[in-house]
Amino acid sequence: MLSFLALNRENYQAAFALQVACHSHPWSEATFASCLDGQYFAWQMEENGELAGFYVGLQVLQEATLMDIGIASSHRGKGLAKPLLEHFFSQCRDKGIDEVWLEVRVSNQAAIGLYKQYGFVLIERRKNYYPCKEGREDALIMKLSWENA
Ligand SMILES: CC(C)(COP(=O)(O)OP(=O)(O)OC[C@H]1O[C@@H](n2cnc3c(N)ncnc32)[C@H](O)[C@@H]1OP(=O)(O)O)[C@@H](O)C(=O)NCCC(=O)NCCS
Repeated sequence: MLSFLALNRENYQAAFALQVACHSHPWSEATFASCLDGQYFAWQMEENGELAGFYVGLQVLQEATLMDIGIASSHRGKGLAKPLLEHFFSQCRDKGIDEVWLEVRVSNQAAIGLYKQYGFVLIERRKNYYPCKEGREDALIMKLSWENA
């Protein structure tokens, strides 16, 4: 059974640890903690009471940025990214958002596949945007318009 919990400054620790585990260059705890209120909205998803994933969104007027999304490695490949992303979309709808933006490493084929499946389109490729193990790598800027969500 899947359940969702809104993250706040009291309960974010496990989701922060998951964020660190998900990335080669994770956010600091201070950055993660600063992305929990105001225009940010962040949720974790549990499967049978166990932390399975999280996302962080940022609303600016009628646009949102999907700042990050991750599934615990032990839970990947089971289709769980879909209900997590759909939960993000439902939050966006509730907030009157009609466009979603994100950026993703060009090497991140799993995330790019997920985003394309939901109708995100490539807007721009930014050269050498992210640090990586062997120097830097490009970012893809992707957008989903509300009517496609
Ligand atoms: C990206 C991520 C969330 C996908 O989670 P997941 O549990 O593996 O994905 P799911 O099993 O739910 O698959 C959902 C869709 O993602 C895509 N996908 C998943 N793995 C893929 C892969 N290896 N290659 C291409 N597409 C893939 C597919 O479109 C898949 O749908 P399908 O099974 O119908 O083909 C996960 O790999 C992750 O947490 N990565 C680390 C954090 C990260 O990079 N976040 C993105 C930041 S921009």
